[in-house]
Amino acid sequence: MNYCIEVMKEEHANIKRMVTVIRQICCNILEGSEVPVSDFRNITDFIKNYADHHHHGKEEAFLFPEMVSRLGKTADNLVTHGMLVEHNLGRNYNMGLGMALNAYEASPSTQLKLDIVGNAFGYAYVLSEHILKENNVVYPFAEKNLPAEILDKVNEDSKKYEEETMLKGVQRHYLDMLESLEKKYGISML
Ligand SMILES: [Fe+2]
Ligand SMILES: [Fe+2]
Repeated sequence: MNYCIEVMKEEHANIKRMVTVIRQICCNILEGSEVPVSDFRNITDFIKNYADHHHHGKEEAFLFPEMVSRLGKTADNLVTHGMLVEHNLGRNYNMGLGMALNAYEASPSTQLKLDIVGNAFGYAYVLSEHILKENNVVYPFAEKNLPAEILDKVNEDSKKYEEETMLKGVQRHYLDMLESLEKKYGISML
């Protein structure tokens, strides 16, 4: 398997773990728990900087442009009218979640709890479906059809980016955050 695909599939698995945490917190709220505002703040940070900037950033900067410019209409439909639209949907939900948290902190209400749960669940749903499509359709399509030298270049760019961000401690920071949330909400990693 190509390095870029391998690393992005690992990130998908980590994002799905956070989706499980989000769903658990939403269920807890529906069953009467307080809204855990600071945990949600960490989750919006994870979504913005790990799932979006770090992960979608590699797709949007390295892999997707090669697919769109080299693999014709099918790739354009899959990427431009599919995956990129879903990245934006995820961003909208995360922005909505942040705004709902601000409003709830200023003046808590059931209406705002609904906005928090609605946006958090919306993000979780969109990203789960998105990851399924990328793992099962988009990445295999890219690996099957992109020329080997282009895949090599995407692998190299991804590796360089991973090494740079690892030096800054980005991956460790967000994986530690994920682990501590899983622990707090009793989610088994097995
Ligand atoms: Fe994506
Ligand atoms: Fe992805």
